This record gives sequence, structure tokens and C-alpha cells, in this order.
Amino acid sequence: MPSFHFETTPRIVCERGAALRLARILQAGGQRRAFLVTDPGLVAAGLIDAPAATLRAAGLHVTVYDRVEADPPEHVVLEAAQAARDDRADCVIGLGGGSSLDTAKLVALLAAHPQPLADIYGPQRARGPRLPLIQVPTTAGTGSEATPTSVVSTPDHQKRGVISSLLFPDVAVLDAELTAALPPGPTAMTGIDAMVHAIEAYTTRHKKNPMSDMLAVRALQLLHGHLGGAVRQGGNLDDREAMLLGSLLAGMAFANAPVAAIHALAHPLGSHFHVPHGLANSLVMVPILRFNLPVAEGAYAELARALDPGLRDAADAEAALAFIAAMQAHVAASPIPQRLRDVGVGESDLPVLAEAAMTVDRLLMNNPRDLTRDDALAVYTQAF
Ligand SMILES: NC(=O)c1ccc[n+]([C@@H]2O[C@H](COP(=O)([O-])OP(=O)(O)OC[C@H]3O[C@@H](n4cnc5c(N)ncnc54)[C@H](O)[C@@H]3O)[C@@H](O)[C@H]2O)c1
Ligand SMILES: [Fe+2]
Repeated sequence: MPSFHFETTPRIVCERGAALRLARILQAGGQRRAFLVTDPGLVAAGLIDAPAATLRAAGLHVTVYDRVEADPPEHVVLEAAQAARDDRADCVIGLGGGSSLDTAKLVALLAAHPQPLADIYGPQRARGPRLPLIQVPTTAGTGSEATPTSVVSTPDHQKRGVISSLLFPDVAVLDAELTAALPPGPTAMTGIDAMVHAIEAYTTRHKKNPMSDMLAVRALQLLHGHLGGAVRQGGNLDDREAMLLGSLLAGMAFANAPVAAIHALAHPLGSHFHVPHGLANSLVMVPILRFNLPVAEGAYAELARALDPGLRDAADAEAALAFIAAMQAHVAASPIPQRLRDVGVGESDLPVLAEAAMTVDRLLMNNPRDLTRDDALAVYTQAF
């Protein structure tokens, strides 16, 4: 067996209503001044008032920072960190989608140990300590509550990642009640993002290991089994809880066995066309699964058999095609844009996208099959 390293969030609470019991989770560490990081959509959805009120009722001082933007830009991260410092916060709570959680990670770091963002992009460059950090996801999702990554949009339209073991949160809190009102479109997009995390972790060229494999398979079983229900009947908390758990497990997997070409080709759609992260993944997923098929057939067949025991005796070629068809069916059944032309991309933009994707080499290098600029263009053309 190849040697491997595995790191994850040390404490996980999966409990309905847990967002109303954050004080109990926090006070184990003796914190008094909580800085809660979220976005205006979460406030409007009515998801912030009750958790904040229960923290205050337990005697904590709480500041709600609600100015996170999707694909958080640098200036928002810096403003939030300064506010936490001014506030003398002694702990940070991220409550929201990946944008809020990623911002909360950097607030916890920069409030305790100011350092220029430009110095810490890339792997293991950040310096600690950081403030205690609890992450409460409201999408399922990015898995950010179980990854060492925070993705930030730079002023020159790039997405850069701070990747540091310091950014694994102290606690991940999965409360299905928070996700019940997420509308069908965002539920589908974020759910497909989580599936892609599991698939890319399972087929990654680097750092694939027995722990990440086990987590990716279980994640995909949960996500595949419950995405349709969560999209069609958002109030079904069994589906919602399974999606949150699947997203967490996929996050644990790709934190240790990194994502690849689907995320690399999704990146420029986000930075150039402001396509939401999950939707961008969904738009390029199937063309890349097809592109990878010649080298990933065995791995796709294993995933297919894990999802459908009826394929146990099928040959790899048949099972792998069934896997791609199953993923394609999830996209087709989702109430989201299906093609690049539906999200404002013109045919003449495709070469620019292909050029931009080639700069995401930190992810492309993980893809099971080498992908050239012409290959990227062919994928975008299929997705158009
Ligand atoms: N850290 C990581 O490992 C990692 C992995 C993948 C993606 N990301 C990043 O995460 C971000 C995307 O996160 P996301 O897809 O979760 O979306 P998001 O956090 O950008 O949220 C999207 C929208 O959904 C709304 N929303 C969220 N939860 C809701 C709920 N329960 N009910 C009603 N509305 C709700 C928000 O208000 C927001 O308007 C991107 O910046 C991406 O780069 C990070
Ligand atoms: Fe993702």
C-alpha cells in the first residue's frame, strides 16, 4: 500500500437543531465574544437571528458580520478580519454556504495573526495561531467545513486558494433544518459540486488513499441517493441530512485527495462569467467524465457498482458508461441551466476559457488524464 497522510476536522456534530445550541458547543472552550460570519441572503432567509439570539441568551457577546459576497473578494475578507480584530473576538462562527465558511476561515486566521493575503496563497504558507473556529454549512455543498482551503477572488479576476492545515475548523456542525429552505436550483448546483468532489477525489492522480476512497464512495452513495429528493421536496429533513453528511464526507475525501479537471475548467466560468461554483462544475462535469473515460474506466466502474448493486457482474466498460449516464441524469433532472450558452457564454468566448483553464495547473495536474488546451476547448465546445 502506498504511504499517505490524512487530516480532517477533529469534531463533528450532526444533529437537527444544533444551530440553536452553538453556545454549548463553544463554551466547552470558554469563549465569550463570538464573531459570526454570514451573507445577506442568509439573514433574509431568517437563518441568523435565532442562532445569534441563543448565543446571546447564553451570555456571549455576538457580532454578526453579514457582508460576505459569493466567491468572496479580497476586500471583504480583509474588512471582516479587521472588524473581528476591532471587536476583540475570541472565536469565529461561519454560518452559510461555502462563501461564508471560506471567509470565516480567513477571519479566524487574520484576526489572530495579521499577514498579507498575497503572502499566503498556495499550500502551507499561512502562519498561526488562529481563533477557535466553528463552521455551520447551509448548503450541501462545498464541504468547506472539512477542508483546509479558503478560495478568494483577487482583483485581477482570479480565484486563489489559501491552503493550510491551520484552516481545518475545530468543529463542523451539520444541522439539516438550516438547509430545508434552500431553493431547488441552488440545492441541485451545490449537490452536484459535492458529487464532483467525491468523483474527483476517487480518480485523482495524486494522494488517492484508502481513507479518501472510503469517504468518497460513501459520500457518493448518499448524494446520489438523496439529491433528487432534496431538490423535489426540500422540506424532507432525511434527504437534507443525508446531503449534508455526503457533502462533509466528500469534503474530507478531497481535502486529502485533491480535485482535478472538472474544477479546473469550472474556475474560469466563475471568474469570467460569475457562474456560481456548483453550476460551473455541473456544466462541464459530463464532458470531462467522457474525456477521462479511457483512463478512468476501472474507477468509474467501481463507483457504478457502489451505487447500483445490479451492476456487480457487469464488465468495466458497461459499468463505467452506466456511471456517466447516472451523473448525466442528475444534471438533466436539475432545474438549472444545462449549457454554457444558457449562462451568458458566447461561442467566441470558448478559446478564452480554454486558455484560462490551462493556468489552473495546480488542479489539472491531478486529473487522471493529461488535458491540453485543445482538449479543454473540445470540452467547452461539448458543453456549449
Ligand atoms: N473551501 C473549499 O474547500 C471550497 C470547495 C468548493 C467551493 N468553495 C467555494 O465556495 C463558494 C461557493 O459556495 P456555495 O456553493 O455554498 O454558495 P454561496 O456560499 O456562495 O451561497 C450562494 C447563495 O445561496 C444562499 N444560501 C446559502 N444557504 C442558503 C439556505 N440554506 N437557504 C437560503 N439561501 C441560502 C446565499 O445567501 C447565497 O446567496 C465559492 O466561493 C467556491 O469557490 C470552497
Ligand atoms: Fe467544488
